[in-house]
Formats: sequence, C-alpha cells, structure tokens
Amino acid sequence: MKYLIEGGRKLSGTVKISGSKNAVLPILAATIITGKKTVLHNCPRISDVDCTIDILRHLGYEITVDGTTVTVDSSKESTPEVPRELMERLRSSIIFLGAFINRFGYAKLYPPGGCELGKRPIDIHLCVLSEMGVNITEENCRICCHTPKLSGGEYRFSFPSVGATENVMIAALRADGPVILKNPAKEPEIVDLQNFLRAAGADISGAGTDTIRIIPTQEFHDCEYTVCSDRIETATYMAVAAATGSTLTLTNAPLRDITKMTEALEQMGVYVIPKLPDMVTVIAPRQLKPLNMITTMPHPGFPTDAQALLMATLLKAQGSSMIVENIFENRYNHVEELKKMGAAIFVNGNTATINGVPVLHGAEVYAKDLRAGASLVIAALCAEGRSLIHNVHHIERGYENMIEKLQKIGANVQMLTESEQNSESVCLLKDEK
Ligand code: EPZ
Repeated sequence: MKYLIEGGRKLSGTVKISGSKNAVLPILAATIITGKKTVLHNCPRISDVDCTIDILRHLGYEITVDGTTVTVDSSKESTPEVPRELMERLRSSIIFLGAFINRFGYAKLYPPGGCELGKRPIDIHLCVLSEMGVNITEENCRICCHTPKLSGGEYRFSFPSVGATENVMIAALRADGPVILKNPAKEPEIVDLQNFLRAAGADISGAGTDTIRIIPTQEFHDCEYTVCSDRIETATYMAVAAATGSTLTLTNAPLRDITKMTEALEQMGVYVIPKLPDMVTVIAPRQLKPLNMITTMPHPGFPTDAQALLMATLLKAQGSSMIVENIFENRYNHVEELKKMGAAIFVNGNTATINGVPVLHGAEVYAKDLRAGASLVIAALCAEGRSLIHNVHHIERGYENMIEKLQKIGANVQMLTESEQNSESVCLLKDEK
C-alpha cells in the first residue's frame, strides 16, 4: 500500500481523534486476567488492535467487534500457547507477558525482534519480575517465565519503562501481598491501564506518579470501559495544522496529556486555543519560528513518539532548530526520507539539527516506522507537488482512517494499491521532475 499526496494546500475543518493505540493494547492484554466479560469502547480500528484481537481469539476467548467497541469474554480456560507468526505480526508480543504470568502462572514468548527503533530489550521487565519470584529461562529462542508464586513487596524500575510498568502492574495482581512499584513510567497510558483494572475490580492507585500501589486480587467482575483518546495522534494533527499553515479543530483530543507538544508549537508561533477539555483549535502563523532545543524524555517530558512529528513541522521554520532523542537509540529513520524532499537536517549521534528551508518538494519516500511514516505525511502535505509514500502499513498500525481524516480537511491524498501505483502515480511523479 502507498499514499499519493499532492501538497501545498491550506487545510481546514475538524479532526476527531481516535482511541489511544498505546493505551488499548495493554488493556486488551489485561482482559485475559479478569476471566469475565469486558466491553471496551473507543478502540481504534488499527492493525495493531486487529493483531491483538487475533491473538486473544487464538487463546479461545470470545471476541466481538462492533465499530470501535470490542467485547472480550475471557472466562474460558486456555493456555498461553500462541504461534510465533501470530505473535510476530504484532511486532511486540511482550505486552502479553504480565497477563500470561497472572492468568496462567507461566509464559513462553519469543523476545520482541529488534524493530526499526533499535533493539527493544526487555531486561527491565525481566529484572523486576524475577525479583517478584518469576523463574526465567530460555528454551528454543523463547523466554520462559514460570512462577510458583509472586511475592508482594516494594520493587523499583531502573528506568521508567512503559511496557515493563504495564507488565508488572498486571502480573502483580496475582502476588501474595501488597506490591509497591517505585520509579514506574508515568505516561497517561499507564493511568488508563490502572483505570481499566480498577473498573474490573482491582485495587490499584498511584499511576501517573512515582509510586504505584497494588492490592492483589483474583476477584474481577464484568466491566465496561472507554479507552482514552490518542495523545500522539493529537500531536500529529496539531503538527499537520502548523506545518501546512492551516487552522484545524481537533475533537476528542486529550490536550492535558500532550502539553509539551503544545508548548513547543506555541514557541514556534502557533496558536493553540483550548475550546473544551477535549477540543482545541490550532492556528498556524504565517511563518514558523525555530526551536532552540527539544529533548525527548519519559513523561511528563517531551514524548519520543512526537519527535518525528515535530521535526516535520520544523523543516520550514525560519532558522535552525535542534532535537535530542534520549529514549530510543535509532529513532531518526525519517531523516533521510525527509531530505529527499529538500529538508536540511544533520544528525550527529542522538542530536538532529534542522535548518529551515523556504520550500520542500514532493518525492518518492519510504516509511520506516510508525511515527517516521506520519512525519513523511506531514512533510508531503506542506511540500510542493506530489509525493508517493511507500510501506504505509507502518502508518496503518497506529493511525485510524488517516486518509479519510485528511481528505475531510481538504488534503489531496489517496491510498494506492500495488497495481494503481505501478501505472499512474510513478508517471505523475516523473512528470513533475
Ligand atoms: C512504549 O514502548 C510505546 N509502545 C512506544 O510507542 C513509546 O515510544 C514508548 O513506550 C516510550 O514512550 C506501546 O505502548 C505499544 P519503553 P515500550 O519500555 O514500552 C528501553 C509508538 O510509536 N528499554 O518505555 O517498548 C527501550 O529500548 C511506539 O507508538 C530497555 O532498555 O517503551 C527504549 O530505549 C514506539 N529495557 C526505552 O527503554 C527494557 O526492559 C523506552 O522503552 C525496556 C525498555
């Protein structure tokens, strides 16, 4: 699949933000531990969710999907045996680790393969789980976790890993005494997982702070929960407005969870006007100002997932900006592709210097990961001429209906199938040169 985008247009209108990918994935995994019926609303229709649902179905659980409402009945007995190819489709099956340990007392998972962002180690997950009493071995390339029992107590994360915090929170509900977690991740998705688990009957508090307190239980009940909206999708469409010199209104937008992106855009001269707690109007200035330095940090710092999005917005700012990527060791996959559009970006280690240019031009580019792909869409929308973006399956993993949402605000974008791309668009692009 490919996107063909004709840039240079002012956009206008309203974008409805979808449910959060990074909140719904651990929550879907956590439905395994309740053994009850869970009704989840505001689930984004994205391929990562589809893959997770396929895994839950493989476990034998009854799942129904009705638009953005997903119902999971995990009352059936099952075993955590999932074929490798099914797990690998999700890219990172590690989100199931805590739920398998809790529900089944053991887990056998293939370690997350390295992805475009780097190695994606899981040492922090395994370190805390082993301290809690999980026996960890490796068999036939699989990580095997077996736990006769999980001990209550106080545990500390060496780094506030989002996935490790989620896995330990879910596993800890099976412990033999209260669990205190220190230095956990504080991302809004952690708070949403806590709120879901509380809705299902768990006694958890402190998510979003430096200390999470968990009173273990095996008694859950049916529940209905609405997943929080996606703060990174919100940042994406804020960047679209800023980069294309447009005015856009975003609804269902969790503005309080994306304050660092708002602050960065305001420093660039963008007007971010809250209308309601979850509605915001973003008005771009005629000329964007550069940013001295933005450093990605664990929440509440500037989110690494918004780094590529902000970079795309800085491409035409009047002057030089600097971004430092502190979270992932390889999260500049978008740079070489943006340079094909005329961007002037220089990367030295984890620091990128972006020198604004007056004009970007359309090009044939390749999405290398989810947010890098979104960055290319933003740049293509403000470039002159046509761009063809390959490998948009990366984008489809995490953005619901991106093409429809962009078309609705006036963007000239279309999804091309393989055959369409071979005939029409490449000629169009060649005509441009
Ligand atoms: C989650 O990934 C998100 N994914 C990522 O979003 C996000 O970028 C990341 O958190 C940081 O906010 C989901 O929620 C599905 P981490 P996760 O564990 O849990 C290192 C997107 O674009 N680390 O906080 O994998 C790790 O290598 C995706 O939506 C260890 O060294 O992130 C990385 O450098 C991309 N050992 C850093 O910590 C470990 O055991 C942050 O990882 C675990 C992590």
